[in-house]
Amino acid sequence: MSEIDYSLDPVYPEPNVYPPRWNFDNEKAWQLYRRAKREQWDEEDINWDRVREIASGLDRKQRLAIAYWWSLLSNFDNATPVFAHAVIKGFEHHLDTAVRGILTTITYDENRHNMVCGLAIDSMMRGFPFQFKPQDDLERKAMLNVEWTWYNGARYWKAYLEAYKKYTLDVLFTSFMMGEAAATTVFTTMSRGAKLEEFSKAFRNTAVDETRHYAFTHLIMTQGASRMNDEQKRLVTKQVRAGFVFLSLITYRPPKEFWKLPPWFEEVNERMEDLARSAGFHIPDLKEKEEAWRTAVIRVGSTLARYGVKMPSFPELGITGEEVEVSEEDFVPIF
Ligand SMILES: [Fe+2]
Ligand SMILES: [Fe+2]
Repeated sequence: MSEIDYSLDPVYPEPNVYPPRWNFDNEKAWQLYRRAKREQWDEEDINWDRVREIASGLDRKQRLAIAYWWSLLSNFDNATPVFAHAVIKGFEHHLDTAVRGILTTITYDENRHNMVCGLAIDSMMRGFPFQFKPQDDLERKAMLNVEWTWYNGARYWKAYLEAYKKYTLDVLFTSFMMGEAAATTVFTTMSRGAKLEEFSKAFRNTAVDETRHYAFTHLIMTQGASRMNDEQKRLVTKQVRAGFVFLSLITYRPPKEFWKLPPWFEEVNERMEDLARSAGFHIPDLKEKEEAWRTAVIRVGSTLARYGVKMPSFPELGITGEEVEVSEEDFVPIF
């Protein structure tokens, strides 16, 4: 153990969140950080009493179907720890002050989205799915659909943590792009179609957040792309496909890759969607879902093309591109 020479500057261990450091020159990031603070909203301003009142006028199956949908959504809006982890990494790697600030606001946003899921489930079918007592085969299968979706979420979380050992932060955050683009489209469509005013408000506000999250990934891409080598660009291409595969469970239909689901998943899912629709809960039909993905693909693709990042192929949507294979370990996308 050598003597410490206190007359010199200390050498900090790396990576480490110390020393604190601030920079005020990334104006684009500062603008986005300020916008994030301005656009905050409170999930408790949604009139949940009114939602409960509406729920009391619905059939049990309709209430179940709406709780079911929010439960599936929560698989993707369980993103508070995802961004909290990104915050720690952002500090360890001494990212720009404003970028770290934005990450903290996204963490808070995602927590709010998760609260909305919980409050919506609680208002429709208290205790679903763990305290739920299914009364027939359909109800039991719907409950299992949710639980197995969450099981896949657990697989995703493991891959996500591992991803930090393999990818640079630029590549990681750019990987969120597809998910945020999809989220923006989904919530905008849902808010326009919703006949239940309180849900429409929740979706509208969420869409505002997701639009800003997309803007964040866009910022990272535009500021970091010039530093990316071909290998990293290929990883982004792969992550765009992974984003589609992961989020399609709620925004389209789950592709064969990655997902481990009960054999009845799609059939029961369609029945739940129809039941929810019959209660005035707008869920886009398959055609609208495909259209929403096409819009997202075009949006992400036009940005990526500018930086020489190729798009993967989406045979499901009839879109050709790079053939990439995504495996369980490749899942880092986020909503
Ligand atoms: Fe979200
Ligand atoms: Fe998001």
